[in-house]
Amino acid sequence: MPISESPSPVAVVTGASSGIGLAVAERLLQQGVRVLAMARRSDPPASLQAQSGTGLFWLSGDVTRAADLDRLAQLARELGPIDYLVPNAGIAQLADGLDNEAFQRQWAVNGAGALNTLAALRDQLNQPAAVVFIGTFLSQVTFPGLAAYIASKSALKAQARTLAVELAAQRIRINLVSPGPTATPIWGTLGLDESQLASVADSVNQRLLDGSFLEVGAVADAILFLLSDGARGIHGQDLIVDNGYTLR
Ligand SMILES: NC(=O)c1ccc[n+]([C@@H]2O[C@H](COP(=O)([O-])OP(=O)(O)OC[C@H]3O[C@@H](n4cnc5c(N)ncnc54)[C@H](OP(=O)(O)O)[C@@H]3O)[C@@H](O)[C@H]2O)c1
Repeated sequence: MPISESPSPVAVVTGASSGIGLAVAERLLQQGVRVLAMARRSDPPASLQAQSGTGLFWLSGDVTRAADLDRLAQLARELGPIDYLVPNAGIAQLADGLDNEAFQRQWAVNGAGALNTLAALRDQLNQPAAVVFIGTFLSQVTFPGLAAYIASKSALKAQARTLAVELAAQRIRINLVSPGPTATPIWGTLGLDESQLASVADSVNQRLLDGSFLEVGAVADAILFLLSDGARGIHGQDLIVDNGYTLR
């Protein structure tokens, strides 16, 4: 099913330089959607550059910086209105569970960064428009060392669900996708050395129903479904795409 009946739909995806956000941007471009993609790195990755003739607009920017979100809004105004928004930019860092600065750092990107992206673009959204925030499977369980990360995502989820009600009158439909363990560079940024990472991966794999991390496409496809008209009756839900991790 095509994502949209609109002749020239536009999407904004943050964190589009890598992992899940990159896979979402690629899929949207393949479906003929113009994509305003943002991440801190200066140039789009090669796989996006290869599709640049198809409607890619790249903005190098940081979702924690108001000036960068203003530039995003300005570009959106020129391209818009915006049909789809995926505030996907995120970071994950291991820290002591009582380390408040670790929470502030991760909330700044994962929570405030995502919400401020929507705030900056709210007036540029089409009616209707669909927004998919990114949570985490870990909100269902626990993971020692990631309390601050989980808290940032869980607070985002709480806010997104109420926003789904508040913004419904403007025909903005809001949901979340909570990925399970997905093979992306984020795992290499947690602060673990190679052998620690291998041992975490082993124990994670044992809980996954097919024994391996999700590939990004499985998560991106779920995000595209929630953006699409096929999900028009779904509001404020958290779709957990986790290869069964939270079932055991
Ligand atoms: N992979 C998993 O297992 C998993 C599980 C649950 C949830 N998630 C969530 O899924 C989302 C995508 O993560 P991923 O796994 O695809 O990780 P990733 O490959 O590390 O991608 C993260 C993206 O966010 C961007 N980013 C980070 N900080 C940013 C900032 N301040 N401003 C703008 N962009 C920023 C990065 O680009 P630059 O460095 O170029 O800025 C990159 O494009 C995140 O929200 C993450 O929390 C991932």
